[in-house]
Amino acid sequence: MIRKGIILSGGMGTRMSPLTKAVNKQLLPIYDKPLIFYPLSILMLAKIKDILIIVNKGQLNQYKKILPNGNRLGIKLTYKEQDSPKGLPDAFILGDNFIGKENVALILGDNFFYGQFLSQKLMECTKLKKGAKVLLHRVANPEKYGVAKVKKNKITLIKEKPKKFFSDLAITGLYFFDNKVIKFSKELKPSKRNELEITDLLNKYKKINSLSADYIGRGGAWLDTGSIEDFYKTSNFVSAIENRQGFKIACLEEISLLNKWISKKEINEAIKFYGKCEYSSYLKKLI
Ligand code: G1P
Repeated sequence: MIRKGIILSGGMGTRMSPLTKAVNKQLLPIYDKPLIFYPLSILMLAKIKDILIIVNKGQLNQYKKILPNGNRLGIKLTYKEQDSPKGLPDAFILGDNFIGKENVALILGDNFFYGQFLSQKLMECTKLKKGAKVLLHRVANPEKYGVAKVKKNKITLIKEKPKKFFSDLAITGLYFFDNKVIKFSKELKPSKRNELEITDLLNKYKKINSLSADYIGRGGAWLDTGSIEDFYKTSNFVSAIENRQGFKIACLEEISLLNKWISKKEINEAIKFYGKCEYSSYLKKLI
């Protein structure tokens, strides 16, 4: 059972400069909320309440203004600063004490997931006892991601940003690991781009026959927020769904309320915290 989660929310966001010069990318808006709300909502939908957020050195105060300690959401948020981005597996080295002896989920701070049955799928994934699990999704541009080849339900090949096509199944930025992840991450050597690579980590699990895959499925969306163009496309997606259906994607308080982690009292506190705005009006409707 996975009860701990890490959001890797550092990175310099160079591709989105000058927007990211003063503000961390994950605090920029995807339509009506900061980007960080979306990956956080995914962990909360997976019923994970104990969450470590890894941020860039010097940016902790920005985060604490919007997501202080999780009390208002009935969850526990801990922060850790990263001196410089060293690759995704660094999350498990920095998060060593936080993880302790437990299993852990990792979500990248800039990954957006949406879809029916997603919560059920996530809860299935958190049942993991041993090994590692990845969520795959078909994409038109696999060369931009970590890619997996699957044969008879088994992952037979994994490569980071392959130049030569061998599969269109991208490895999304949501991973589930057993506790060996700490040891395995510490054993990794930096790649040519001088980073610890998640694909190298996954290959370690593959080697011992402990890597499994699941799919978001055709009806689900996994969107990129890598470039400014992608950012706006994702914003438009959220706007289209929210305005058509009248409910919000990644309203953290709503998820907590439905999970019974908070009550009316905390919603009222949240309304006070956010002030007079459209998000608060939505919260008011919930109670
Ligand atoms: C990272 C991972 C890649 C994964 C992707 C998902 O890529 O290295 O394997 O598919 O996240 O968003 P990066 O964001 O560093 O280009």
